Amino acid sequence: MNRDRNILFWLIGFAKPYIFWLIIAFSSMILVAYFELLIPYKIKEVIDGILTGEMTRELIKLSAYSILSFIATIFIFSSLFSYILNISGQKIMFSIRESLFRHIVKLPQSYFDSNDVGRITTRVTNDINALNEFYTNVLVQLVKDFLVVIGVIFLIISFNSLLGLIILGINIVVIILALLYKERLRRVYSNLRRTISQLNSFINESIRSISLLKMYNKEQLNYRRFLCYSENNYQANLDQMYTFAMFRPFIEFTTVFTAGVIIWVGSHQVIQKSMSIGELLAVLFYLRMMFKPILDLADKYNILQSALAASENLFSIINTSSEKNGKKLFNKNFKSIVFKDIWFSYANDNWILKNFNLEIMNGDSFVLIGSTGSGKTTILNLILGFYKPQKGEILIDGTPLDSYDMESIRSNFSVIMQDTPLFNNVPNEDDFHNIDVIRSIGEKQIQNIKTMMDRTFQVIVLDEATSNLDLDLEKDVKNYLEKIENKTSIVIAHRLNLIKDNDIIILLQNGEIIEKGTHSDLIQEKGSYFDIFRLNQNFFKN
Ligand SMILES: Nc1ncnc2c1ncn2[C@@H]1O[C@H](COP(=O)(O)OP(=O)(O)O)[C@@H](O)[C@H]1O
Ligand SMILES: [Mg+2]
Repeated sequence: MNRDRNILFWLIGFAKPYIFWLIIAFSSMILVAYFELLIPYKIKEVIDGILTGEMTRELIKLSAYSILSFIATIFIFSSLFSYILNISGQKIMFSIRESLFRHIVKLPQSYFDSNDVGRITTRVTNDINALNEFYTNVLVQLVKDFLVVIGVIFLIISFNSLLGLIILGINIVVIILALLYKERLRRVYSNLRRTISQLNSFINESIRSISLLKMYNKEQLNYRRFLCYSENNYQANLDQMYTFAMFRPFIEFTTVFTAGVIIWVGSHQVIQKSMSIGELLAVLFYLRMMFKPILDLADKYNILQSALAASENLFSIINTSSEKNGKKLFNKNFKSIVFKDIWFSYANDNWILKNFNLEIMNGDSFVLIGSTGSGKTTILNLILGFYKPQKGEILIDGTPLDSYDMESIRSNFSVIMQDTPLFNNVPNEDDFHNIDVIRSIGEKQIQNIKTMMDRTFQVIVLDEATSNLDLDLEKDVKNYLEKIENKTSIVIAHRLNLIKDNDIIILLQNGEIIEKGTHSDLIQEKGSYFDIFRLNQNFFKN
């Protein structure tokens, strides 16, 4: 309940700037409902007038004009409110989309680990559209329909209480049946939404990994799985169709049935002179007006359900707190970055770093080596604030990383992560449109390295940035690293080519530092590094 209220407040927040227009739309809507109710009433007056002979030709003409003017008024004001709703709806959706996207890009990296791209894309596009549809086609319409139904029942009772009570009774039966039906409708629609989203996700995944599928000859398997999802969606659509095939005819039947009852009971009343012919006709008109909204109810209920589901999805994104960002600015002449008793896991209790300690002084150059999965990239992820350690602290000059403005840190870091796509290094519009030029991964690395070298920075971070370069280019990078001696560098490398004489080498194993020192230190130690070095040497000799 509380949560529902929060969602509502959140949504209303976006509508606030348009409150003036919404009031106009709402007033127009009430006006339209009023005139719609007035027309049958006017017709009743004319007919009764003619039958009693009270209506002169002149009066009939006048009444016809006034009915015409009602219709014109209805037309103008319903156009006005639908215009206002559509325009403000688009504006509101625009700002929801904007605030959502801004929020999403600030979410912590862990969010993206557990939510796939397809899902997030659906949130920003489809879910917002579902809200829009509810806002423009249902919200105000529903209020209007409600007013009309209440007005109709009230008017009919004022004409003839017996007919009024009959109609009220039938209405109550319909409402009870509709409520019983609601559960089925809800199930059918949520099924439909679920199967569509599964199908979308599956297609998304298949297309993205198409080369993998081909490589492992999994195309047939993939196709069968696709058919399965597609079939589910097909069934859900059929289900929805059958459900509708029952609902609509039922309401249509009720309309006709009620009309029959009204004519039967009504004509008796007319003969007994307790009701006029005009009133009987008006009641029949009102009957149509009353059942029309009920007929549309199933559609509207669907839109309402989608909108509810959508707003819940959107709200859960908004409710995921974004990366914490402090105020403190990064000092270029920092003294040290310290990992103090860090415990970190990506998920559950699968500790990647256990009580990890490391001190990086300004100007140091570190080289991290260690087998795949030993936690090298994880260490960088933590320094750059992509993930937060569960225990322990990262301190820059004694101040926790959390207190820093991450932007000021990242702007002083020149980073090439292992899986940085070229896109991340594309700062301007022109390049932006060129990213579809296919390049080899090595070419992307060259481009990344060039971009990185052009930046002014204090700390350079390379995560296997040269793994796809040929040895000549790797040598260029090494020369470059040698030239920037007053900067701090953290380099992850698989090959040992990038190691310089006074680099501090850190050998990682399962998230623990097992050896630390310069090349000559570690060679003298004759430990694991020594073995790795010898292996490398032999490899190059052969
Ligand atoms: N996003 C992630 N979610 C869950 N586990 C992860 C994630 N990234 C890395 N890991 C796991 O953390 C461990 C260390 O990974 P990583 O630091 O990338 O290793 P390295 O860079 O040394 O190859 C590995 O066991 C890896 O499977
Ligand atoms: Mg790595």
